[in-house]
Amino acid sequence: MSRIVVLISGSGSNLQALLDQSAAGQLGGQVTAVISNKAEAYGLERARNAGIATHVVSNRDYADRASFDAALMQVIDRYEPTLVVLAGFMRILTPEFVRHYQGRMLNIHPSLLPRHQGLHTHQKAIDAGDKEHGCSVHFVTEELDGGPVVLQARVPVFAEDDATAVAERVLVQEHAIYPLTVRWFCDGRLVMQQGKVYLDGAQLPAQGYAGE
Ligand code: GAR
Repeated sequence: MSRIVVLISGSGSNLQALLDQSAAGQLGGQVTAVISNKAEAYGLERARNAGIATHVVSNRDYADRASFDAALMQVIDRYEPTLVVLAGFMRILTPEFVRHYQGRMLNIHPSLLPRHQGLHTHQKAIDAGDKEHGCSVHFVTEELDGGPVVLQARVPVFAEDDATAVAERVLVQEHAIYPLTVRWFCDGRLVMQQGKVYLDGAQLPAQGYAGE
């Protein structure tokens, strides 16, 4: 059974989607620990409610990014994870950290990558006049929000939308595609090799899996 460690910084609604899928026996792996860089993250309570080990590694306790990432790595590696899942983990990671989990770390980003990297993606989509927006699951590489995409989901953007309305619409899709891609990984169907993503042995296009 795959061992999954989830990193969060906030509400943890994506974590909840993974836990729900796991409780239904549909994740193909087990969430063995949830780690937050913020003690007040609501996602920690979700994890505790599900009987899962939790840890807080606060970036404020470390002098620099390298020592924080090293401490985080130590806690993660206690669980010998098959997969590390970033679920709203709002930290920029060092190249050392990323390399350590290369090919076994996924992230979800609230935009149709490569569009709108970084923060405030929903407002960026509105400001750009985008008619379509969405979310992307990708493997994490050293390039911030730049790793190869596994799967995207699209939502419409309506004229009357504000960022909150768009965020809510996107989140519903996040909760669908993240558990699905984690399952693919746990089932051994999804791999990254030399920066390219393969599902069932077939290389995925730049925008990720495009359906049958
Ligand atoms: C999600 O929208 C996720 O895509 C985003 O943070 C939110 C976390 O929500 N992640 C990023 O912006 C990463 N750069 P959640 O805590 O309810 O899962």
